[in-house]
Amino acid sequence: MVLVVVSSPKGGVGKTTLVANLAVALRRRGRQVTAVDFDSQNALRFLLAPEHEDDFGIARCTARGLPWTSAVVAGRGGVRVAPYGEATTPERLRMKDLLEEDALSEALSSLMRSDDEIIIADTTPGEGRIQQRLESLADLKLIVLLADAGSMALAPAYRDGLLLRPITENPTTFGVLNQVDPRRRLSRDISEFIATHAADRFIGIVHYDEALAEAAARGESIVEAAPQGLSAGDIEAIAGRLDRLTSREPVAS
Ligand SMILES: Nc1ncnc2c1ncn2[C@@H]1O[C@H](COP(=O)(O)OP(=O)(O)OP(=O)(O)O)[C@@H](O)[C@H]1O
Ligand SMILES: [Mg+2]
Repeated sequence: MVLVVVSSPKGGVGKTTLVANLAVALRRRGRQVTAVDFDSQNALRFLLAPEHEDDFGIARCTARGLPWTSAVVAGRGGVRVAPYGEATTPERLRMKDLLEEDALSEALSSLMRSDDEIIIADTTPGEGRIQQRLESLADLKLIVLLADAGSMALAPAYRDGLLLRPITENPTTFGVLNQVDPRRRLSRDISEFIATHAADRFIGIVHYDEALAEAAARGESIVEAAPQGLSAGDIEAIAGRLDRLTSREPVAS
């Protein structure tokens, strides 16, 4: 199993959108992919399995001692989805208590169908307990930032400045700069700054693209809905790098 954890210092930066689209793009590259939602907003299933109406998910499974495979549903493009599902407050708290490191690791492994299956995890913003445990198990961590003043103000201090330090210091954590809009000067300046000072640390950028938000609203992935569009190319490029980084047999780049 290869665990990829997607997180962000701020909310609303595009984590769920990226998880859903990267999952489909990785599946199209032939990888087995299960996307797991650790956010009680339960939004991932609306992007990846919009027809699925049963709100049973990993929160209720965990609280009731059931395997996470009971929560898995078939999603878009052959991706499997383990939704967070509906859960009462006691169930949510019980999930947090029960998912100490070993239990979390076992639950994730139970989803695995092959050694190189990618489990891609969507999370809540910030650094909660489950988030920290997930990251300690992760093979790769993606931190999503917006190309705006708010995200850039956070970047130098976030995780002790990790995002702006040499990749050799922590080679498994990558940034993703989302909603890059070349029509806006600040957005251009931020992308140029990242390209100059932290190119290795950032696995890619994703342009601001209304088609991406519209596809998400329809429950479609951008690589299926508008494969020639700007953001589809960005998603494909990031998926390609993720595929290479997580392949058991690395492909020469
Ligand atoms: N590159 C993009 N271009 C245009 N819109 C985008 C882009 N990325 C995300 N969005 C839109 O931004 C909004 C927030 O995205 P999303 O829900 O994926 O963020 P999030 O980080 O998961 O939020 P939360 O922290 O609440 O879980 C959505 O409406 C989404 O469609
Ligand atoms: Mg989200």
